[in-house]
Amino acid sequence: MKIGIMGAMPEEIAPILEKVGEYKSTDIADNTYYEANYNGVDLVIAYSKIGKVFSTLTASTMIHHFGVETMLFSGVAGGINPALKIGDLIVADKLCQHDLDITAFGHPHGFVPGGSQFVETDASLRKLAFDVAKEMGVALQGGTIATGDQFVHNPERKAFIESTFSADALEMEGASVAVVCHSLNVPVFILRAISDTADTDASFNFDEFMESSAKISADFIMKMVERLER
Ligand code: ADE
Repeated sequence: MKIGIMGAMPEEIAPILEKVGEYKSTDIADNTYYEANYNGVDLVIAYSKIGKVFSTLTASTMIHHFGVETMLFSGVAGGINPALKIGDLIVADKLCQHDLDITAFGHPHGFVPGGSQFVETDASLRKLAFDVAKEMGVALQGGTIATGDQFVHNPERKAFIESTFSADALEMEGASVAVVCHSLNVPVFILRAISDTADTDASFNFDEFMESSAKISADFIMKMVERLER
């Protein structure tokens, strides 16, 4: 079983690379992929760079070039659901693209013909996450994550995403990775730790909490990897 572990930013995969220790680096399409074996499980690790286009490229490369059979994404998100505090973990049940808009032609937000408004993640990976959380005594919430090519930092945009998609959190890569994996029949799991509340100036709390929340998410992902079949 070969597992892909993606983040969007270097900080999101640094704790994972540190944990695996040794790895082989390969450069493809202006990005670096790290192959490692952790506890007998073959891993391919990479950060995609921010946004839906780069994350699509990385997920596709992991699957087509490296033969990844299961995809795990670890990173940070802006919280929408007030129950989610900074540092809390959210597992995506389903994801949508909040900035995909052909409503001009009568379609709902986030929908294009041939696609679907929401894409679901793998139920058995989600179950594994909740088993691991219980074992660790960690609070884990499931919910809807909205993805778009925008760092959301104003209350109006946040309110639009909440009311249109009933989203609990938002970020910039999850839905594109999920669409790629869904299309290619690769089970996908998206985990995010809350870094900010998506309604204030980015400089306010993002940098302060991004690194610590990224580590919370990465550490949890590695606990899941320890439980995956070799
Ligand atoms: N990732 C973490 N916080 C975010 C925000 N406010 N907007 C988009 N992506 C994010």
